[in-house]
Amino acid sequence: MSAVRGEFSSRFGFIMAAAGSAVGLGNIWGFPTQTASNGGAAFLVAYLVLAFCLAYPALMAELTIGRHGQANAVTSLRKISNDGWQKHFAFVVGFGGIICAGLILSFYAIVAGWMISATLEPVATLAGSQTASTWLSEQSLSRDLLFTAGFIILTVAIISKGVENGIEKWSKRLMPALLSILFALIIYVMMQDGAMTGLKAYLVPDFSSILDPELLVSALGQAFFSLSLGTSVMIIYGSYISKKENLVSLGAYVTLIDVFIAFVAGLLIIPAMYVAQAQGVEIFSATGELLSEDTLVFQVLPALFDGMGTIGLFVGFAFFALMSIAALTSSISMLEAPVSYAVERFSLNRLSATWLIGAIIAVVSFTIILNFGTLFGFVIALTTKFGQPLLGLMCCLFVGWIWYRNSLLTEIQQGCPEVANGIFWKIWPWYIKFICPIAIGLVFVSSLLG
Ligand code: TRP
Repeated sequence: MSAVRGEFSSRFGFIMAAAGSAVGLGNIWGFPTQTASNGGAAFLVAYLVLAFCLAYPALMAELTIGRHGQANAVTSLRKISNDGWQKHFAFVVGFGGIICAGLILSFYAIVAGWMISATLEPVATLAGSQTASTWLSEQSLSRDLLFTAGFIILTVAIISKGVENGIEKWSKRLMPALLSILFALIIYVMMQDGAMTGLKAYLVPDFSSILDPELLVSALGQAFFSLSLGTSVMIIYGSYISKKENLVSLGAYVTLIDVFIAFVAGLLIIPAMYVAQAQGVEIFSATGELLSEDTLVFQVLPALFDGMGTIGLFVGFAFFALMSIAALTSSISMLEAPVSYAVERFSLNRLSATWLIGAIIAVVSFTIILNFGTLFGFVIALTTKFGQPLLGLMCCLFVGWIWYRNSLLTEIQQGCPEVANGIFWKIWPWYIKFICPIAIGLVFVSSLLG
């Protein structure tokens, strides 16, 4: 065990860090494009319901396990296990989550690398270097390897500084920057022709598709990915929350911020697509479907920025800087999962553990880049379609069926003494025991069949 465990120094610091983990490419890229291709506001409604009814209770399960355990995911889950068999199960769930977080980071870093190169591209153009700008905008092995490595190094540099001076400090700086860029871009896009058509497509629901199983599967998957569930990340972040804090409201804030930012990102991306269309850029395929996600972000939006002339360079820079920042506050949470385990389990010092694990993840990322066609989609499906829902479900089983109810209540009462009489405690334990596992299981099975 390391001598002194880190802890978030303030409530604001925790909220920024956990919201920073939650708010990422999933919100700013995944959510709007999924909404656009799944019936607009109908998807939004399904997402809101599922995020609050299933993802929030599951988030609370993970945060509570972590704060009670005051340790990495494996140790925290073991602390609530009562016999040898359960302790094995704890290892499988905790360690599985750590591997899942590492794998997510390995593909996330590739996408984040694209975002950083897209941020630098307008800078190169402004500086007058056409060669550099072409290299930055065209897919190539050298570009992908370099920027993926660069992004991992950035993540490692923050995580090696620990909880308060690394995660918390940088989340507190980056999250407000992200919000300001987001709002500035929305104001700009709303003033362009075509934006209102996009706004309508986003906000007027087509309810005929709301009970479509495929829509529900995508919405739940999106909610789980977005709240970083099932990967032990929220267990770790929970373990850095002080016992004086009210977990119930902290979890609610994080969920609210995450959902809010996804919603607001939709106000930017979807109108921006229609603005691009108004300028003659294709956004629908010949069959009338929306172009796929990466085409939208890496072709439609840049085409839009190009059409704006010089100001487009600044808008493009701001947009991709926003994406890169969102990716960074998320990736630090993914790296913290394996690092905290290595530090506590093998008594490594934080600096070497971080570099070592960063190097392993870089090797995995490079392998994916070198076998992009076969591995990229596979790793995404493996972690987000299987890993996250299954591990998230198991965390609910831990809290609902294995953890003694009195001890669970005692944990939540710290920082929230009145909880036993409130609505949360009337609903949540029962919910986490039955509703969450069944609903997550159902959605999981239908995603396998679908
Ligand atoms: N929630 C982030 C997003 O929306 C991604 C993320 C961060 C994540 N940490 C995670 C996903 C851990 C799964 C597991 O982009």
